[in-house]
Amino acid sequence: MAVRITPSILNADFADLTGELGRISGADLVHVDVMDNHFVPNLTLGLPVVERIVAASAVPVDAHLMIEDADRWARGYAEAGCASVTFHAEASVAPIRLAREIRAAGARAAIAVRPTTDIAPYLDYLEELDMLLVMTVEPGFGGQRFLESTVSKIAAAREAIDASGRDIWLQVDGGISRDTIATAARAGADTFVAGSAVYGAEDPNAEVTALRELAAA
Ligand code: DX5
Ligand code: ZN
Repeated sequence: MAVRITPSILNADFADLTGELGRISGADLVHVDVMDNHFVPNLTLGLPVVERIVAASAVPVDAHLMIEDADRWARGYAEAGCASVTFHAEASVAPIRLAREIRAAGARAAIAVRPTTDIAPYLDYLEELDMLLVMTVEPGFGGQRFLESTVSKIAAAREAIDASGRDIWLQVDGGISRDTIATAARAGADTFVAGSAVYGAEDPNAEVTALRELAAA
């Protein structure tokens, strides 16, 4: 199974995003956490900054929208050139329509679930999606501990994806490090967000390589 490492810039230096993007040139995608201080109790950045990141980054952009009213905002991130746009199941009234809009605007469409949200209802609509994101911490902040209780949900998603026969990525986000990545990989994840593990390392690119090896082992 292909392994993808998607470093989150949440723990990067926001005053030097161009420099920070250059330190993860070996990553598969760069994960950009958009937070609105409503869906989560934290505020990061929005569309104008993401547009600049898309322009400045050699690595494709994976936007993770932790915002209310995703139905209104997500399409703009696809139109801005993000390779992948993930919205939260809890923040969308019409997730199928929204996934179609994201695809029509040229991006991969993905849906995320918080640790306590049942993923089963969304596994019936896999043909509408390019990626599932199982949150392995409560969204909002970097540096939290991986929740072991999410492992069964990763496994259920993997089973449904395999049964569908479709090439749908299964992403995990939160607390992924050298200590936890193998657990998530064994449960069936193939796409790994790592924020503090990568940007807390002296050499982020080397950490991406190390994580990739551990996930593939
Ligand atoms: C958390 C964000 C994550 C965060 C992960 O709500 O969605 O992408 O950056 O950070 P770590 O890897 O430190 O848990
Ligand atoms: Zn994220």
